[in-house]
Amino acid sequence: KKASMVVDKAYRVAEIDKRIYGSFIEHLGRAVYGGIYEPGHPTADEQGFRKDVLELVRDLNVPIVRYPGGNMVSAYNWEDGVGPVASRPRRLELAWRTIETNEMGTNEFADWARKAGSDVMMAVNLGTRGIDAARNLLEYCNHPSGSYYSDLRISHGYKEPHKIKTWCLGNEMDGPWQVGQKTPEEYGRLAAETAKAMRLVDPTIELVSCGSSNSAMPLFPQWEATTLEHTYEHVDFVSLHQYFGNAENDPANYLAKGLEMDRFIRTVISTADFIKAKKRSKKTLNLSFDEWNVWYHSNDADKQIEPWTIAPPQLEDHYNFEDALLVGTLLITFLKHADRVKIACLAQLVNVIAPIMTEQGGSAWRQTIYYPYLHASLYGRGVALHTLSKSPVYDSKEFTDVPYLESTAVYNEEKEEVAIFAVNRHLEEGLQLECDMRSFEGYKIAEHIVLENSDLKARNSAAQEAVVPHSGGNSKLDGGVLQAVLAAKSWNVIRLV
Ligand code: AHR
Repeated sequence: KKASMVVDKAYRVAEIDKRIYGSFIEHLGRAVYGGIYEPGHPTADEQGFRKDVLELVRDLNVPIVRYPGGNMVSAYNWEDGVGPVASRPRRLELAWRTIETNEMGTNEFADWARKAGSDVMMAVNLGTRGIDAARNLLEYCNHPSGSYYSDLRISHGYKEPHKIKTWCLGNEMDGPWQVGQKTPEEYGRLAAETAKAMRLVDPTIELVSCGSSNSAMPLFPQWEATTLEHTYEHVDFVSLHQYFGNAENDPANYLAKGLEMDRFIRTVISTADFIKAKKRSKKTLNLSFDEWNVWYHSNDADKQIEPWTIAPPQLEDHYNFEDALLVGTLLITFLKHADRVKIACLAQLVNVIAPIMTEQGGSAWRQTIYYPYLHASLYGRGVALHTLSKSPVYDSKEFTDVPYLESTAVYNEEKEEVAIFAVNRHLEEGLQLECDMRSFEGYKIAEHIVLENSDLKARNSAAQEAVVPHSGGNSKLDGGVLQAVLAAKSWNVIRLV
């Protein structure tokens, strides 16, 4: 099979916001306790943070991490997690029905994020709480001093404000599973008024209005239209969440699910722009895809978990090779929409539907999905390019005209590097790719990274990494034309410098 691309530095989508390589840590399962924080672990630092985990996170160069939830935030009292640890309450955590010890809270997470080289994206509770708790938390985090909550932070040992810039106005407020679920009218009003108060405390923040929990929600996209009627002028982003799975074991259909994400993004853009037009607004709203990933492997195991235990192994999806391919196509989809998708958070980061797993007292290891995320984060910085591609197509159960080739390119002007990201969705055949690269005169192939495996279900574990990339891809560049062979079912990064 043959496919082609034109990659020209003149065809720019937009400067990529590095925050599209964000991630997420929720107080859920073993993400915090036993994940990023395990005081007795041999690699634990003076604050109990696992240094082996920090190293893997730093390797990923994660620019921003959403915290503390997720569903958990909708019944969370942030005050429980600050001040002397010994006097913090143990609470029933209602979203996941566990015991929350509150050993970690806002200040410790800010410390962890700093050590990880990431910013914090903070969510406020608009489920059981509202304007007051949100503005107090913001004052606690960002106000320098001389007020009740800023001085409280200082008394807790944090003289410098955390300067958290990006704030989510609640989480998945359309979901019946959410504590304090709202109608679109209720949410729109509450979010708008919370945003107003928060901006009075700190006008420099950026705010995210909750969109639908996924594109199959009954109110989608009316939820966006109604809530944005209220919040449009008060916020900077609308959120999207979506998880994918292959429970029916149909790999050809599964690998096409990036097209669903693409459609979702386009619909949210249209809806936001409709409200912009209605309001005669000069402002264009951007998208924060602040939860995305594969999530289905752990569904059955989670039903067996006893309620009211501390940090049980919840949502521990053990990813396989086909999941890594899908994740690759999803990352490419974000790059194609770099003009509007400015934040995206791989949900989540450690142990809970995560690229990084830990053994209690033992090692930290990389799941299959770690690799496309790593490559995109490292090499997908700069300007997203509009590539013109031609590919043979196939039909699957839910999709028609699915291109075997899913690809895009990123131009890093500063480093004078180009990266082509490409997935070959064909399960049996390689794809012969011809790329017109004439605008990149003088460039040479630095590396052709490939993630491939004969077994779609191959997985990594603490004992063995079966799915790892290699740099032996088959490509050559001659007279401005790049010829590459993309192996059947593979993720590829072709780097030119
Ligand atoms: O990431 C796991 C959960 O998925 C989050 O808590 C919630 O926001 C979503 O439903």
